[in-house]
Amino acid sequence: MEKIFIFDTTLRDGEQIPGACLNPREKLEIAFQLARLQVDAIEAGFPISSPGDFEAVQGIAARVKGPTIVALARAVRKDIEVAWNAIKKAEKPRLHVFLGTSDIHIQKKFGLDRDKALERGLEALKFAKSLCPDVEYSTEDASRTNPEYLSRVVEQVIAAGATVVNIPDTVGYAVPHQFGNLISHLKETVSNIDEVVLSVHCHNDLGLATANTLAAIENGARQVECTMNGLGERAGNASLEEIVMTIKTRKDYFKFQTSVNAREVMRTSKLVSRLMGMPVQANKAIVGANAFAHSSGVHQDGILKDRATYEIIRPEDLGITEHAMILTARSGRHALRDKISKMGYDLDEEEFEGVYERFVSVADKKKRVYDEDVDIIVQDMIFAHLAGNKLYSLESYKVRTGNSEAPEARVRLRREEVILEASAEGSGPIDAIFRAIDKIAGAFHKLEDFQVKAVTETKEAIGEATVRVSREGHRALGRGSSTDILKASAKAYVEAVNRIHFLLEHHSQTCGSDNGSVVQGTSRAHNTA
Ligand code: KIV
Ligand code: ZN
Repeated sequence: MEKIFIFDTTLRDGEQIPGACLNPREKLEIAFQLARLQVDAIEAGFPISSPGDFEAVQGIAARVKGPTIVALARAVRKDIEVAWNAIKKAEKPRLHVFLGTSDIHIQKKFGLDRDKALERGLEALKFAKSLCPDVEYSTEDASRTNPEYLSRVVEQVIAAGATVVNIPDTVGYAVPHQFGNLISHLKETVSNIDEVVLSVHCHNDLGLATANTLAAIENGARQVECTMNGLGERAGNASLEEIVMTIKTRKDYFKFQTSVNAREVMRTSKLVSRLMGMPVQANKAIVGANAFAHSSGVHQDGILKDRATYEIIRPEDLGITEHAMILTARSGRHALRDKISKMGYDLDEEEFEGVYERFVSVADKKKRVYDEDVDIIVQDMIFAHLAGNKLYSLESYKVRTGNSEAPEARVRLRREEVILEASAEGSGPIDAIFRAIDKIAGAFHKLEDFQVKAVTETKEAIGEATVRVSREGHRALGRGSSTDILKASAKAYVEAVNRIHFLLEHHSQTCGSDNGSVVQGTSRAHNTA
């Protein structure tokens, strides 16, 4: 069966979501997981957009083996140079250059005409090609581009050395039949089209991203650009899990294959959701919490007789397991180390000891520790100890509350060797804790989002809190977990406050800012992708 190449852009288009803001360590962890998922290419970022993103892409290029590592650049020499510097150490580097081809982009964004825009694109492509043998060229807003002009651009960029040509539906405007026709128009009119991998990149503004992508495959596209959980600019991108599982489940119809290891889908989805602070809707296809929950009596009866009556995908094919091996307080270091390495984490001694200490305290409170608990403990430990980001850490807290008195919290935070303490009243115990933390930090943080969820379904489950706060134009996400949700919330808030402090100190580094712009050094540049 012919192969469809999976190009994952969770770390680039996905990370453009307001407030997503991953730091280099988090991006690296997601990239490792995408490599385990066996995608063909990882678009690691847009290096010119910020020093932090440059560092993240560079780290991924140096450490993640297997997939091609891609960096995005506008058709601008400086962008391309910076992108190349970020990925040149990768096992398989690829530069991704993009330039609008629709009249609205050419005239309104660049003030050019079609010929001049093509000239600019070719010049940029040739420069990229002089640095890197593998260059992808994206005709931004292709679905709203004059088809004859699009064919001309595609033919000339192939002649100039592009190895992949990408046809984006940048604004999610296409409908499946029409988008499929556009791909077959290119196959018919571009004389050298068979010299490249033809790719598509669909946005989900009309909820058609997956359908458009599949229509493109049927008409000759062989690379698809997608993101985990469908995250991405505005309404998101085509969802990786939907495309991969449609091809796999309906191989009778599509007759293609991908190299993705579907058993890693669920873990990848959870990791991305958690680190980006973007919960997956319960009824989301493939990875939603209800995707395999059968509630009607008729369905349950059918499932008990034969799962195939109402289930087209087996949960275990996505890596959803019935808690494989349960650990307890007596499991010891060996069993925990074994579990952690099977999950794919590579911890050094100090990190492992930190995880072990936390594991023992959780196992003391909860009788049984499930895989999901271990996952959260490891991630919490790794991501809470980000060098340079940790101004405050939670020492302790006390809350007094009841139905006839205003809740009051007393919080103690450590800042280096100093213990700082404050009390505050709030509308609820969590509000009181957050206010006390603000008092210690000497600043008000606007709470934009706050969620708590149980990691497993037992009563003593670990609760995971996610908070998103903003201050002075910066937004940050914090996470914390504990069997006590007040503690989880306090940890999450402290982490978010630390991150905001870090962003304010490093003004040139921001992401997911309100206006969708990204910062380059001291000058701002709009990320139009
Ligand atoms: O949506 C888009 O057109 C893009 C390009 C950079 C591929 O993200
Ligand atoms: Zn896009």
